[in-house]
Amino acid sequence: MSTLLTPEMQRRAGGHNLRIVFDEAAIAARVRELGQEITAAYPDGELLVLGLLKGSFIFLSDLVRQIDRPLHLDFLVASSYGTGTVSSGTVRLLYDPETPLEGKHIVIVEDIIDSGRTMQKLLGLLKERNPASVAVCSLLDKKLLPIPIPELRWTGFTAPPAFLVGYGLDHAEDFRHLPFIGDLTDG
Ligand code: IMP
Ligand code: MG
Repeated sequence: MSTLLTPEMQRRAGGHNLRIVFDEAAIAARVRELGQEITAAYPDGELLVLGLLKGSFIFLSDLVRQIDRPLHLDFLVASSYGTGTVSSGTVRLLYDPETPLEGKHIVIVEDIIDSGRTMQKLLGLLKERNPASVAVCSLLDKKLLPIPIPELRWTGFTAPPAFLVGYGLDHAEDFRHLPFIGDLTDG
């Protein structure tokens, strides 16, 4: 896999020379596999996919198109980072889904599990609403947690210890539109 940006991509990235960590083809192949696994995991029942905005928006839209069964879609907006690159630990729910969760199979779609605090707080909130089941599908996992989150059933890739951007992930709202996942750490 090439890790160098074309001049066009470097322009899109605002001149930053990001190192490509997961390219478009690798992401697409993995998203297809995840879609197939999620399809197989829910042979029946009502499936509600909840995308955690904003970071998951590209992954979410690619993933649901690879899930071959009926589903409903809604969003959650939680805020934890502000403009820093270190998790603040405070999680606020800025948008809460209108859809009742009771009796439904919930799959929460997340961009990246870092400290895991966002997800743990969120799981606590959602479980109070009596869903039939709750599972998490995260595109990336930094694997920093001593005890993995039990609900984390699907992970796209293990993330290197770096600050990753692109394919929905941002740094201070930059880079979300890049089609690949890159490392900002030394860009
Ligand atoms: P956690 O609560 O520490 O697990 O943080 C999770 C959230 O922080 C994710 O949903 C991302 O929005 C953001 N985040 C964590 N690591 C990164 C990264 O490397 N790049 C971009 N955003 C990140
Ligand atoms: Mg973010």
